[in-house]
Amino acid sequence: METKVYQWNPTGENGEAVAGAAAVLRSGGLVAIPTETVYGLGADGLNGAAVRRIFEAKGRPQDNPLILHVPDGTWLDRCCAAVPPLARLLAETFWPGPLTMILPRAACVPDETTGGLDTVGVRCPDHPITRAIITAADTPIAAPSANTSGRPSCTTAADVLEDMDGKIEAVVDGGSCIVGVESTILDLTAFPPRLLRPGGLPLEALEKVCGTIALDPAVTRLMQPGEQPKAPGMKYRHYAPKAPVTVVSGAPERSADYIRTHLSSGEGVICFEEFTPLFTGVSVQSLGLSTDKDEQARRVFDALRAFDGTQVAAIWAQCPDTAGLGLAVANRLKKAAGFHVIDAGGEEARP
Ligand code: TXA
Ligand code: MG
Repeated sequence: METKVYQWNPTGENGEAVAGAAAVLRSGGLVAIPTETVYGLGADGLNGAAVRRIFEAKGRPQDNPLILHVPDGTWLDRCCAAVPPLARLLAETFWPGPLTMILPRAACVPDETTGGLDTVGVRCPDHPITRAIITAADTPIAAPSANTSGRPSCTTAADVLEDMDGKIEAVVDGGSCIVGVESTILDLTAFPPRLLRPGGLPLEALEKVCGTIALDPAVTRLMQPGEQPKAPGMKYRHYAPKAPVTVVSGAPERSADYIRTHLSSGEGVICFEEFTPLFTGVSVQSLGLSTDKDEQARRVFDALRAFDGTQVAAIWAQCPDTAGLGLAVANRLKKAAGFHVIDAGGEEARP
């Protein structure tokens, strides 16, 4: 099949792209859509047959549920059997934005979308063309990240085409994703609410509204055999480039020095911008300055993907501390490494 590319026009008319993408979705087709986090691979989330095609295109395990994307908070009632006041408050505070809420599913949401669970994830993405497309399609859009299952997520339309060209009806090119890591997933069917995946909305911002939040163990460590994370997707090796990754945490000077002394020839490095001069002649991807976690979030998947075009035998990655967006960036790097983490020490204790 030929994959059509619709171009977003940020300053003018998008009527044709919106109508074209919405028509494909209404008829059960697949459209990759831009969001502020990563590109999504969208289908009509209430059409089980359309949703099955997402799993085929990605090679995704069937038990891994999808997030429904909506254009505003009023659609919570279309997707969920019950909407607690805290969910409405969070939607008012953080939507559109990188927050997915897990809530009881409405009867109209098919098993294909929820992986057979009685809950559903819902989020309102912060990209105007995508909200316009969902409104025009008049159905919630199920969309996992648009990468082939297991690969790093896509933050540009070119990344999507690398994985999906010829497999889906269309891609909407909405530019580079401004956040760069996926949404934060909060389970509101648990008490206290439980963080299932750190993401583009920092935990500290959620705690200001919700109070105490429990951390699912899958956020910080590898699941043991027989252990089930609440978000089924968290159990898979993920975001992984082809070469094995070792993450080095700790104070940036210490982790850079550790990598410099342990690096062998033919290996690649992901490091903070200020340490790139330590690695001249080495295949290096910069993660941005050690103090700029927004940039690290935008760069992390690109840095991981970039090595797939090279012959590096192994990858060493410096890792930020876990405050703010650092929790999500560190989680993506550690998952890419299968939680193979070395602590170089010297990190200041945080309050
Ligand atoms: O930012 C994002 O969330 C992106 C963009 C496209 O919106 N989407 C995304 O989808 O990251 P995906 O499918 O790659 O990750 C969704 C995660 C998976 O780990 C899945 O297991 C979990 O959400 N999930 C979905 N529904 C769930 C549910 N009802 N209960 C628990 N976890 C759920
Ligand atoms: Mg994904």
